[in-house]
Amino acid sequence: MRPDSTISDNTVTITTSRCLGQDVSLIEFHCPEIARTARPGNFVNIKISPNNEPLLRRPFSIHSVDGDSVAIMAKSVGRGTTLLCDSPAGTELQVLGPLGNAFTTDKPHFETALLISGGIGTAPMLFLEKTLLAAGKKVHHVIGGKTKKDIQIRNLTNCHIATEDGSDGFRGNAIDLLREKIEQLAVSGPVKVFACGPNPMLKALAVFCQQKNLPCEASLESIMGCGIGICYGCSVELKNLSGHGTSTILLCQEGPVIEAGRLLI
Ligand SMILES: Cc1cc2nc3c(=O)[nH]c(=O)nc-3n(C[C@H](O)[C@H](O)[C@H](O)COP(=O)(O)OP(=O)(O)OC[C@H]3O[C@@H](n4cnc5c(N)ncnc54)[C@H](O)[C@@H]3O)c2cc1C
Ligand code: FES
Repeated sequence: MRPDSTISDNTVTITTSRCLGQDVSLIEFHCPEIARTARPGNFVNIKISPNNEPLLRRPFSIHSVDGDSVAIMAKSVGRGTTLLCDSPAGTELQVLGPLGNAFTTDKPHFETALLISGGIGTAPMLFLEKTLLAAGKKVHHVIGGKTKKDIQIRNLTNCHIATEDGSDGFRGNAIDLLREKIEQLAVSGPVKVFACGPNPMLKALAVFCQQKNLPCEASLESIMGCGIGICYGCSVELKNLSGHGTSTILLCQEGPVIEAGRLLI
């Protein structure tokens, strides 16, 4: 959990709003308060409309930080995200952040980072890649989607693509591709796996990483109201770190990044 003093609620103006295809938009805004303290894996909670439609904020991973500028990548799935994806440059948003914990990029010791993502789960991976490269790590992405249109590889390097219909790259899912490529991707030093995507993908990855004895952190999603531990809307049941029994956590406080071994399979 981060010290509350680093969280701020900011009125920002969209500087760039670009459609990346398949209902996904890149939204950028100037926000030095968030840019200064954000870490990969953090999210922001956005009040999209000045009126009550929708009333609650919506959570989005921080896609990248460039100077004082913050970007998110949003997929239109409902009322709030459609409104956000359709908002042109110049639109005002209320943005609370940075929220949640972050991916652990310095331990346990590793040389190679495998970033596994599915669908819009690729959103936090650019910020993570930049941070890992700056720390001298080797980075490979394994990215899965139903079809070619679901794959977002904008500005990412070393991408290995899997599509379920075979329209791009390997035919199958991201974990099948990882299973096939692991010896080749893991040649340089100890490996750590970082993941974000749909729950079935994360659970299959957790099993794979347990079998291969690879450390793995996963960013989860849940419905969120406040993003700051007040509404209890984001409760998630996980295995205890001790391996015995389960606990319920508030994902906005103790997550969204968790050790993948804690997922209930
Ligand atoms: C920590 C975190 C980070 C996220 N990062 C991103 C991101 O970078 N980009 C992005 O596009 N989305 C992200 N999401 C998901 C995003 O917040 C939801 O898609 C959004 O809140 C839906 O709002 P809506 O008003 O469009 O949908 P609604 O009209 O409220 O609902 C439409 C449909 O979407 C489903 N839905 C609502 N919330 C979620 C959710 N959190 N996860 C899955 N399905 C949901 C509903 O059950 C319903 O079926 C993230 C969620 C969390 C918790
Ligand atoms: S979103 Fe309100 S407690 Fe987590």
